Amino acid sequence: MAKTTRIVKMTIKTILWILLINLAGMMVSASVLENLKVPLLEVGELWLTATQDLLNGMKNGITTLIHDCSIWSYIGIVALAYLVYKVYLLLFAPMNRVRLLHEVGYCDDSYHKQSAKDVCNTVKKQRRVGDCPPCYPNGWFAVIDSHDLKVGAVKNVSCLGLNLAVFRGEDGRAHVVDAYCPHLGAHLAVGGTVVGDCIQCPFHGWEFNGDTGKCTRIPTTNKIPDVARVKAYNTLELNGYVNIWHHAEGSDPTWTPPEFEEITNGTWKYRGRTEHYVNAHIEEVPENGADLAHLPLIHQPLIVAGVDLRYCYSKIWNFGQHKWIANWEQESGPDFHIGTLTLQHSLRLFGIKLSMLDIKVAARQIGPGLVYMTFNSMFARGAFVHSLTPVEPLVQRMIHQVWCEWYIPPIIPKFFLFGEAMMIERDMMIWNNKQYNGRPVLAKSKEDALIQKHRRWYSQFYSENSPTIESIAKSKATLDW
Ligand code: FES
Ligand SMILES: [Fe+2]
Repeated sequence: MAKTTRIVKMTIKTILWILLINLAGMMVSASVLENLKVPLLEVGELWLTATQDLLNGMKNGITTLIHDCSIWSYIGIVALAYLVYKVYLLLFAPMNRVRLLHEVGYCDDSYHKQSAKDVCNTVKKQRRVGDCPPCYPNGWFAVIDSHDLKVGAVKNVSCLGLNLAVFRGEDGRAHVVDAYCPHLGAHLAVGGTVVGDCIQCPFHGWEFNGDTGKCTRIPTTNKIPDVARVKAYNTLELNGYVNIWHHAEGSDPTWTPPEFEEITNGTWKYRGRTEHYVNAHIEEVPENGADLAHLPLIHQPLIVAGVDLRYCYSKIWNFGQHKWIANWEQESGPDFHIGTLTLQHSLRLFGIKLSMLDIKVAARQIGPGLVYMTFNSMFARGAFVHSLTPVEPLVQRMIHQVWCEWYIPPIIPKFFLFGEAMMIERDMMIWNNKQYNGRPVLAKSKEDALIQKHRRWYSQFYSENSPTIESIAKSKATLDW
């Protein structure tokens, strides 16, 4: 059913785009022909005749193919339809690039070729983790993309050492509650259903309010125990994600992430996402923004050089380079939880700077889990909304959504997102294999001073009871052994 709706929507969209392009063509020709003193009415007629001819030509072609009855005609039609579908996806549909934990950032140097999963597991087991800070910092974290949670849907999400039931009530609001029912412990997101703004347990039908977590109905009695409740999390749906506030001391939120008005009011449209799983401590990822010395190494080779650091420095790609000018600053006062990386990107081909490809980026790190990265180029203005959420002590889910002005052809922000993914995948090859140095040997340089500054700034997100690798291992909350 969902597939049929998608195909119908796709067909309508394609027809609308053809009409729009036709209309734009008419307007251009009208203005040209007006200068040549050709009446506007004739321009319209010319276009109508041309469109009719095109449609008749297509109809005749298809009729001939069908009458021809050869198997090759049918194969040809199917191949053509598939090609049109693929071109449509490339040009207009939102991008969705998902790379699982074992798919990016490892190198297999063993004598016997291993599968990607085996290489990943070996690295996970054998790598020295170093002297890591706590694993789950305090702040707002995305638990799900907004578009993935339809009205009445329930999703099972595990992150930050929590098992969560995420659901959207019938009034459209998103809720996040602890997944386990206080009655006999069933998982609310595995078979549970939405009733109004409550979630109903699949086992015996108890209902829990999404805002308070209180049990509001037990099918077999009117007497509801006071303690019949699940933990309901502070939930904030903003800029394309459903976020929860996580604090090791149970404190209420001390800040809220800013809103992109352009996303809320629909001026910017969603054009795609990438999803990666990083095998490292969470702090490694934002620290990369303050680590200016890695830019000319990891991010200078052209995108076409690929993401494998063993090969991307090859001389074949020397004809072009990405150049970066960057700085990182923490904000002060009530916005002390925000750090901003400003970046200017330029591209050089055969030593010539292509100014039209200059991009200015301001990446605001909003606490430990969110980055709002606005970009401004000759071709488009928009933002990457980036979320980083720990799914295990040393595994992070990293999502980038791209949003762009509605009139920009989707292929442009999709290309920007692809470029961003390529750069991130190079960083992943470092993150997935490194240890965390709690007491690093630093050079006396402006660049390394900035890393220290970033670490001091980031330490505000840890508190006395923030879970560490050791405390998580001791708590044995799960049977992952
Ligand atoms: S276990 Fe949830 S209602 Fe019984
Ligand atoms: Fe990087």
